[in-house]
Amino acid sequence: MSATGAAKALTPPDIAARKGKMPLVCLTAYTTPIAKLVDDHCDVVLVGDSVGMVLHGLPSTVGVTLEMMIMHGKAVRRGLEKAVMVVDMPFGSYEESPEQAFRNAVRLMAETGCSAIKLEGGESIAGTIRFLAMRGVPVMGHVGLTPQAVNTFGGYRVQGRGEDAEHIVRDAITVSEAGAFAVVLEKIPEALARQITQEVAIPTIGIGASPACDGQILVVDDMLGLFGTFRPKFVKRYAELAGTAEAAIATYASEVRERRFPAVEHVFGDVPRPVNGGEAA
Ligand code: KIV
Repeated sequence: MSATGAAKALTPPDIAARKGKMPLVCLTAYTTPIAKLVDDHCDVVLVGDSVGMVLHGLPSTVGVTLEMMIMHGKAVRRGLEKAVMVVDMPFGSYEESPEQAFRNAVRLMAETGCSAIKLEGGESIAGTIRFLAMRGVPVMGHVGLTPQAVNTFGGYRVQGRGEDAEHIVRDAITVSEAGAFAVVLEKIPEALARQITQEVAIPTIGIGASPACDGQILVVDDMLGLFGTFRPKFVKRYAELAGTAEAAIATYASEVRERRFPAVEHVFGDVPRPVNGGEAA
């Protein structure tokens, strides 16, 4: 806290400087109320393109648009004071050319007020990362399982269990050398994530990776248990809010049907008392 009581806003260089130090705490957020809840506790808040699956019911992140990211980015901005806000570049908004990536990254930064963007890929996208980083766009990389490539991978399997392990190491090193300030390692074996963390110069942020990473990230809805059935191995559920919410909704429904809600404290003026346990007089 500063002398004025306001928390000092973190920056991408502050995150880069945490390599090998106190683990970075990162969560996703897509709305203002959740951003307000996580801000005090997080170093990085990611407006992930997982929003497409989590809030919009899409089957993958492939259908997420720049407009969706801008809308959710603006909402999250209103809830943050301290954490670094990173917004995902959605599929199709950066792969064509460095110029396309720059144009869309500038839109994300200017319209949402985020301080960095995240994009998926390793060696294949390194030229774009360098182009952006040299032009004032802080970039977070993302290697290993890159969900936007689900159709190429043929699913969401753990990556780097075979010969592709060396390729993922090269991806992470290339992303770091291209100028990214941090890199997400998603769904790769623990030993591989540990090795990459030792070899790259920037903080690694793990999801389904390793406790040795320089930080961890989870989708906030997953760790709060807002889904009934989706339980990937790498998610620890710190709450079971779906069950709590469903029980509350069921209670509301029966109270409405039994005319027990609204009660006297919820209405303006008196509620006539029921006569003989039947209809109100
Ligand atoms: O979109 C997302 O939420 C992400 C995190 C899971 C890293 O990319």
